[in-house]
Amino acid sequence: MSIKTATLNGVTTIEIARAEKKNALTLAMYQAMADALRVATADAKVRAVLVTGQPGIFTSGNDIEDFMARPPGQGGSDALDSPVFRFMRALLDCDKPVVAAVTGAAIGIGTTMLLHCDFVYVSDEARLAMPFVALGLVPEFASSVLLPQLMGQARAAEKLLLGEAFTPEQAVECGIANAVLPAGEVVHHARRVAERFNHLPPGAVQGAKRLLRAPQREQVTAAIRTEGELFVQRLRSPEAMEAFQAFFQKRKPDFSKF
Ligand code: COA
Repeated sequence: MSIKTATLNGVTTIEIARAEKKNALTLAMYQAMADALRVATADAKVRAVLVTGQPGIFTSGNDIEDFMARPPGQGGSDALDSPVFRFMRALLDCDKPVVAAVTGAAIGIGTTMLLHCDFVYVSDEARLAMPFVALGLVPEFASSVLLPQLMGQARAAEKLLLGEAFTPEQAVECGIANAVLPAGEVVHHARRVAERFNHLPPGAVQGAKRLLRAPQREQVTAAIRTEGELFVQRLRSPEAMEAFQAFFQKRKPDFSKF
């Protein structure tokens, strides 16, 4: 299993553990994360959730082979009920604090999921990037709405249209992350923050979290749907096929023919 979960001292840890594929997320991994979030949300003994990766890699985003072979909506199923969207909804519905320890590169949904975590600590060796357009795709997980709100249209365009990578320090500066930590300390620090919720009243914490998220809730839910519909169409586009094939053939994609 490439998602490891454990609950210890009031904290459920969701660890992405597929280092050989740079922690790329498959359908089964999204489902496992969605299930773990739902269980943690329902379990009164759990006071906070910690999401983490492997040394040097948080996640390289969606598994590109899955994008090609098993795109959401395949076989006439409801695309917006696929495991990736179940994971998104489970993270939105989690009313306990979610702390992310970004242990290394965070690509695609590796970065956009951080917009829905309450605390984000980033290794000083990490890089963040949302290269959706370069893959023939469009932004997801409400990033097209939340990023311009956080950093303004100009800087959001650099990250979402050009797909420019950015440093942990820039992630802190634009409000995506709380702090940059030495690579060897990031998980420990994030866990200590998560464990602080063992000493706070859980009802008040959950109420406060709901209030903090409430003003954007409807907008975020609508954006996930609107983006998702276009994203699923784009997955089947010739532009995306060229980008995916180029990735596996370890060459630069050629978009000159489009
Ligand atoms: N989906 C599927 N496989 C992936 C993957 C992904 N998102 N990211 C990495 N892998 C696989 C590679 O194909 C490679 O497999 P192989 O050993 O069988 O050839 C293995 O993981 C190692 O990746 P590699 O690219 O050789 O590692 P790297 O250290 O040179 O680069 C990354 C690491 C994360 C920068 C690079 O893998 C990358 O850019 N991945 C794709 C990111 C992406 O575009 N994600 C989708 C966002 S929507």
